[in-house]
Amino acid sequence: MGYCFYTYINTSFQSGKNMRTINKMIMAVVFASTASVVMAESSEEDVSAASAPIEGSAAPVAPSSIEEIAGGICAGCHSADGNSVIPMNPILAGQHSEYISKQLMDFKANGEEPPKRNSPVMSAMVAALSQNDVKKLGEYYAKQTMKPSQGSTDEKILEQGRILYHGGNIEHNVPACASCHGPNGSGIPPRYPAVAGQHTEYTMMQLGLFNTGERANDNDIMHKVVSRMSAPEKRAVSEYISTLR
Ligand code: HEC
Ligand code: HEC
Repeated sequence: MGYCFYTYINTSFQSGKNMRTINKMIMAVVFASTASVVMAESSEEDVSAASAPIEGSAAPVAPSSIEEIAGGICAGCHSADGNSVIPMNPILAGQHSEYISKQLMDFKANGEEPPKRNSPVMSAMVAALSQNDVKKLGEYYAKQTMKPSQGSTDEKILEQGRILYHGGNIEHNVPACASCHGPNGSGIPPRYPAVAGQHTEYTMMQLGLFNTGERANDNDIMHKVVSRMSAPEKRAVSEYISTLR
């Protein structure tokens, strides 16, 4: 049922129907349970009729389907509990729910407009998700316990990273990361993500994307920070972040 349901929402999005209709249709599908595929093929008028008797009922998507999405679709790259063991794939466990939801929406193409955050892999993953799925996925990962990345042990590099993270680089006008991401890297919800314990490779990749402007879904805030940093500084701070707890 999980995959069937997923494919069905995907089709709705591709056909460009508006969110409200889709939400209504999801309600209809969830409540119709096994009849879902038949319902999916009915016209819009039929859907409003079908959703009428269930007005005022509980949330449109049952929590179990979020676990199905996380376990069936996302787990391959981020692990079932969001503690990705692949260094290029971010650890999601313990991240703020609002930040996760925002990123998922940013990966989504909006009609003709390209996604705000470019990742062909992630855009394919979120295409089928509803706004409610995105919200629930944020909550799901936020409540998982983070298992931090192994972290670097190179004392010299870590010391350089520590100075930068907490004090910035005054000479080059680099602000302290701690001012937005917190002294222990736990971030400040809803705007500033947690960075503590993240894989060095993922952090480095993001700093690189902010630097080139390929990632700019943050109103260029991070671009201004990283464009003033040297390559060794980016590495040092990324390694330091991986050791924050
Ligand atoms: C095929 C591997 C793959 C799958 C499957 C996958 N992801 Fe991702 N995910 C990635 C990669 C790689 C990135 C980093 C993208 C980038 O910035 O280039 C990412 C980034 C993210 C981010 C941004 C995290 C941050 O710290 O900014 C979130 C949130 C996320 N994924 C959630 C999900 C969810 C939810 C699913 C399931 C619906 C999913 N991913 C499925 C590979 C995957
Ligand atoms: C003025 C505030 C500010 C400062 C200073 C700042 N950041 Fe950020 N950072 C942000 C915002 C805002 C975002 C992303 C918001 C979004 O994508 O919605 C972000 C995102 C990031 C991300 C991406 C996290 C992820 O999971 O993909 C990394 C990594 C990061 N910052 C590292 C740093 C480092 C390292 C420094 C210091 C050199 C730093 N930041 C300084 C505001 C700041």
